[in-house]
Amino acid sequence: MKGVILAGGTGTRLRPLTNIINKHLLPVGKYPMIHYAIEKMANAGIQDLMLVTGKHSAGLYTEYVGDGRQWGLEVSYKIQEEAGGIAQALSLAEDFVAPDKQVLVILGDNLFEDSLREAVNDFKSQEQGARVFLKQVHDPYRYGVPVMKKGRIETIMEKPEIPPSNYAVTGIYLYDSQVFDIIRQLQPSERGELEITDVNNAYARQGLLFHSLLTGWWTDAGTHQALLAAGARLLEREAP
Ligand code: G1P
Repeated sequence: MKGVILAGGTGTRLRPLTNIINKHLLPVGKYPMIHYAIEKMANAGIQDLMLVTGKHSAGLYTEYVGDGRQWGLEVSYKIQEEAGGIAQALSLAEDFVAPDKQVLVILGDNLFEDSLREAVNDFKSQEQGARVFLKQVHDPYRYGVPVMKKGRIETIMEKPEIPPSNYAVTGIYLYDSQVFDIIRQLQPSERGELEITDVNNAYARQGLLFHSLLTGWWTDAGTHQALLAAGARLLEREAP
């Protein structure tokens, strides 16, 4: 299975910090944010990883991440020239993923405690479909929110004003190779982006969207408060 970390985007909610540096390079505890997603990939057994990022700060990524050897995996890079949404960024990894037929995707601003190893191993024996990871939150309107029916996700609503449940669909996804055909058929959303929620809903309509619950803490570190809190928590982990 291949791994893809999506680390583009403009990080508007983290301005003015993101005026000078890409969000995923901001310090979180002892490391730049991107460090943690790479660590999760390595821990899940991923050996080949692609990092998709914007033009800005791209040199800093190569400086910090290099070829990935400090995590024991091999990293390649892809530049997303224009912001076109998460699904558009993922489409750039099609040729990279193709020989393996399955991919673990992590949004680079998602920081979390759970190991993905078991879910990744289970998914390897699954022939088709997608899996998302849910986390109970107090502010679901900020995220993709699942509508559950008989223990399955019937559909996902993106940032609903009235959330149908108090779960967030986190930025951790497992896909089969059908994902790239699905992305090709997507229409841009109202904000002009190819939405990852529309990708997941295409799987849900086929009855092929599965889910797991995260039991440890999770944050998307998208605000200054969340960034600070995540930094403090992850720094504790480093204490002797
Ligand atoms: C994206 C997804 C959303 C998901 C979130 C998790 O939102 O569109 O469904 O819940 O990531 O971090 P964004 O943070 O890009 O607005």
